[in-house]
Amino acid sequence: MAELNSERIYIIGFMGSGKSTLGRQLAKQLGYAFIDTDLIIEEQVGMNISELFQQAGEKAFREMETRILHETTLSGKAVIATGGGMACSEEHIKLINANGISIYLEANSAFLKQRLLQGKRHRPLIAGVTEDELEGRIKNLLNEREPYYKQAHYTIPLPVKSVETLIKSIGLEG
Ligand code: S3P
Repeated sequence: MAELNSERIYIIGFMGSGKSTLGRQLAKQLGYAFIDTDLIIEEQVGMNISELFQQAGEKAFREMETRILHETTLSGKAVIATGGGMACSEEHIKLINANGISIYLEANSAFLKQRLLQGKRHRPLIAGVTEDELEGRIKNLLNEREPYYKQAHYTIPLPVKSVETLIKSIGLEG
């Protein structure tokens, strides 16, 4: 896919898929800057995502995501780890695909449940569900979101063997 814009690499996918961890490693390996959109929002508002949802609501958070996404399109070479919902509108996924290479880290609900059991209290969309309800909640959200995630240029099934393998599968040199 030589015609793709490789200035920016957007990592998209569900909560718990490891977007930030892998994104950071990928950035280091490629010598790109690393941008984590959730962290930028937290820094700008001076509170964590849970507090932000509580105090300003999800709609306000989504509006911030739109603004931050537009800002990322102006960055130099960067790997951008997005929040799990950031890619999930036609407007957003089109913007992502027009401004960089997008990588969907694909995982099923059972895998994600295991990854999310620990940190779920920090994630407002699942903080209130019980352990028994968690996989159902993930399945519903995944169904809604996959049509957007699947528009990514590359879909990489988890677990990823190594950053080097990932770099090879997207056709970039480390
Ligand atoms: C969200 C995912 C979170 C964070 C917010 C909303 C979502 O990011 O942006 O809690 O809508 O899936 P992570 O995917 O990094 O957990």
